[in-house]
Amino acid sequence: MIQPSPRVPWTLAFLHAIPHGIVAGLHLPEGGDPVEDVVLARLTGPERDVAISLRGYRQVQFVGGRLALGVGFSEMGVRKAPVTSDEHGAPLLPDGFSGSITHKQDLAIGLLARGRARVGVDLEDTDRPRPGVAARVLTAPELAAVEALPESRRWVDTVLRFSVKESIYKAVHPTLRRYVGFGEVAVWPGTNGNDRVEPLVPDLERFHFAARHCWIGDRVLSTVRAELL
Ligand SMILES: CC(C)(COP(=O)(O)OP(=O)(O)OC[C@H]1O[C@@H](n2cnc3c(N)ncnc32)[C@H](O)[C@@H]1OP(=O)(O)O)[C@@H](O)C(=O)NCCC(=O)NCCS
Repeated sequence: MIQPSPRVPWTLAFLHAIPHGIVAGLHLPEGGDPVEDVVLARLTGPERDVAISLRGYRQVQFVGGRLALGVGFSEMGVRKAPVTSDEHGAPLLPDGFSGSITHKQDLAIGLLARGRARVGVDLEDTDRPRPGVAARVLTAPELAAVEALPESRRWVDTVLRFSVKESIYKAVHPTLRRYVGFGEVAVWPGTNGNDRVEPLVPDLERFHFAARHCWIGDRVLSTVRAELL
């Protein structure tokens, strides 16, 4: 369980070194007002150029994600590099680094790792069950496993698997450069926070996956490391 600091906009909510990299969370301001110049000044030049073209919460979240990754660079003792986006929206990092971003209205999270493996991070709320999601994002064996759980645990288990799949997508999309469907991989949550990833199509079988999850209140934070075999 991650315990965030009290919410003060643009300050660090948490910072942890985990097996998949350095994960930093940044509190975001309410309201979606234009980001102040003093905050924009913390970005690199190319990031700032993108940020000033954005509006509302999209601007706030873009800035938050970049600043969170920037914390990771500082923790590694490395000069902060500009993180732009590829044509599909994936963060573009310098050679030798991989990074991933997730955000909600109040929080932006960046995961930064060194090496050739690619990483993915995702944060999901679990407080509002949504009918029909399980059937859309789970394979038949996953659905059967979820339905075998007590009713009170089904939604959380579904969201956990969904979140890991989103992290998988973020980790592999920059390499595969194709849409990966929710039925192309199965996720088996582990009781110790280590989850098993079962690739179901040949190009995903080319990766070794390590997946983890933890909780920030009733939100699930998943991280994935995908290494080409
Ligand atoms: C791209 C996607 C994963 C983003 O997830 P989301 O829950 O909508 O949004 P999040 O806040 O968690 O993440 C947003 C960040 O994802 C990252 N992202 C966007 N497209 C990406 C891509 N193709 N590859 C990697 N990362 C990507 C960006 O960093 C973005 O933040 P930024 O624009 O500020 O840089 C999701 O919208 C999507 O298209 N999923 C595809 C289907 C899927 O997940 N299948 C799983 C099968 S294994």
